[in-house]
Amino acid sequence: MFKVNSYTSWIIIGTLLPIIAFSIVAGISFISLNNMIRDENWVTHTYMVIDKADYFMKTMVDAETGQRGYLITGQENFLAPYNSAIPLIDNQIAELRQLTSDNHVEQASMDKLEPLVKKRLALLDINVNLRRNNNTSGLVQNFDAGTGKQTMEEIRQIVDSMKNEEQQLLTKRILDTQSSVQTAGYVIIFGTLIAVILTIITTLVINKKLAERQKLERSNIELQVQSQELRDADIAKEEFTTMISHELKTPLVTISGYAEMLKEHDSILGPLNGEQIKAVEKISIETAKLERLIGDIMDAQKIDLERMKFNKKEFEVKEFLDEQIEIHSKLMNEKKIRFINTTKDTAVISSDQHRLSQVFANLIKNSVDFVPQNNGSIEINAQRKNGHVVFYVKDNGSGIPKEKQDSLFKKFYQVDTSLKRSHGGTGLGLVICKGIVEALGGKVWLESEVGKGTTIFFTMPRNGVNGNHAEK
Ligand SMILES: Nc1ncnc2c1ncn2[C@@H]1O[C@H](COP(=O)(O)OP(=O)(O)OP(=O)(O)O)[C@@H](O)[C@H]1O
Ligand SMILES: [Mg+2]
Repeated sequence: MFKVNSYTSWIIIGTLLPIIAFSIVAGISFISLNNMIRDENWVTHTYMVIDKADYFMKTMVDAETGQRGYLITGQENFLAPYNSAIPLIDNQIAELRQLTSDNHVEQASMDKLEPLVKKRLALLDINVNLRRNNNTSGLVQNFDAGTGKQTMEEIRQIVDSMKNEEQQLLTKRILDTQSSVQTAGYVIIFGTLIAVILTIITTLVINKKLAERQKLERSNIELQVQSQELRDADIAKEEFTTMISHELKTPLVTISGYAEMLKEHDSILGPLNGEQIKAVEKISIETAKLERLIGDIMDAQKIDLERMKFNKKEFEVKEFLDEQIEIHSKLMNEKKIRFINTTKDTAVISSDQHRLSQVFANLIKNSVDFVPQNNGSIEINAQRKNGHVVFYVKDNGSGIPKEKQDSLFKKFYQVDTSLKRSHGGTGLGLVICKGIVEALGGKVWLESEVGKGTTIFFTMPRNGVNGNHAEK
C-alpha cells in the first residue's frame, strides 16, 4: 500500500499551506472588493436619484414658466418650454419610481407625487386652452382659487423630502464605501503579509526537513555499508567455524576408532594391560565429549543460520517418552536416580523425533547433574493442551535463582562458572533446545525454585494430527 512518509507529508503541507493562505486572501479580497464596488454603485445610484429629482423639478418649472409666458403674452412661441417639458414628465416620473423601487419611503412619496403632478399638469393644460380661446374670466377664476400654486408647492415639498431622504442615504453609503475600501485594503495588506510569512516559514521548515532527510539518507547508506560489512564478516566467521568444526571432527573419528580397536580383547594391534586399557577408555570418554561439543557448536551454528534440517513423522508421545526412559536408564541406574515417565496421554504428533530426542538428552543431562546424590528424581511427561502437546522434564535438583533464569537460553551462559563446579559443559545445551523447539513451532519456558528443583517445559504443535483420544 502507498505510505506517505513524514518528509512527503511535510512537503505536501508546506506547498499546500501557502496556496491555501493565498487562496483565502484572494477570496476575502474578492468579497471585500465586491462590497466596495457594491457600496460605490449605491452612491452613484443615490446621486442619480437626486439628479433625476432636480431634473424633474426643473421640467415642472419649465412647464409652468412656459404656460405663464403664454398666458401673459398670448404668443405661441412663449409656449415652447411648456411644449418641450410636458412629454418628458411621464417618463421622469416612471424613472424616479423605478430608481427608488428599493426604498419604501420614497415609493410612498412617489404615490403622493404622481396624482399631484397629474393635477398640476391638467390645470396648466386648462389654462393654456382658456387663453387660446381668450376666456379671461375663466383664467381669473383659476388664479383666484390659487390651486395651481398650492399644488406646485406640495410637489416641491415632496421632491425636497425625497432628495432629503436620498441625501441621508448618500451620507450613510459614502461611509459604507469608505469602510469597505479600508477593509479591502487591510485584508489585502495583512492577508498577503501573513501568507508571505507562512510561505517563508514553510519553506524554511521544508528545507530543514530535506536537510534532515539527506542526513538520514547518508547515515542510512553508511549503516547499510556497515551492516553489509558485518554480514560479510559473519559469513566469513561462520564459514571459518564450520571449517574448523569439520576439521576437528575428522581426526576425532580416527582417534575414537583406534581407541575402540585398542580396547578390543583380540585387537589386531595386540593386547593391552589393565592400566593401558584404563588409559584408552579415558581417551574414548574425552573424545566422545569433544565430539559432542563440536556437534553442539555445529548445531548452534545451523540454528543461527536457520539451516538445521528436520524430518517430521507422526509418533505417539507416550511411546516416545518410554523410549527416552530406556535410552537413559543405564545412566540413571548408575546414579541411582528415580527416572519416570508419567505420561497418560496417547496423543500423536507430527514432529522430528530425532531432534526431540536431542532436546530430551540435553534437558535430562542437565537434571542428572543437578539432582541430589541421594533421592535424585527426574520425571518426564507429555500432555495435550490447546491444540499443542506440552512436554516437561522435572527434577528435584538445586534449582536456578530467579535473577539468572532469563539468561539461561543465551549462548555459553552458565549459572556457576567456578572451577569447582560439578556440572561440566559449555552453555550451549539450552540454546540448542530452544532453537530446535522453536524451529519445530513450539515454545520453551521454565519454572524453578532454589532448593526445590527445576521443570523445563516446551510445546509442540500437533500439526493437524488428531490422535486416537479426545483432547483432555
Ligand atoms: N535442571 C537444571 N537445574 C539447575 N540448573 C540448570 C538446569 N538446567 C540448566 N541449568 C543451568 O543452566 C546452565 C545452562 O545450561 P545449558 O544446558 O545451556 O548449558 P550447560 O549444561 O552448562 O552446557 P552444555 O549443555 O552445552 O553441555 C547450566 O550451566 C546450569 O547452570
Ligand atoms: Mg546442558
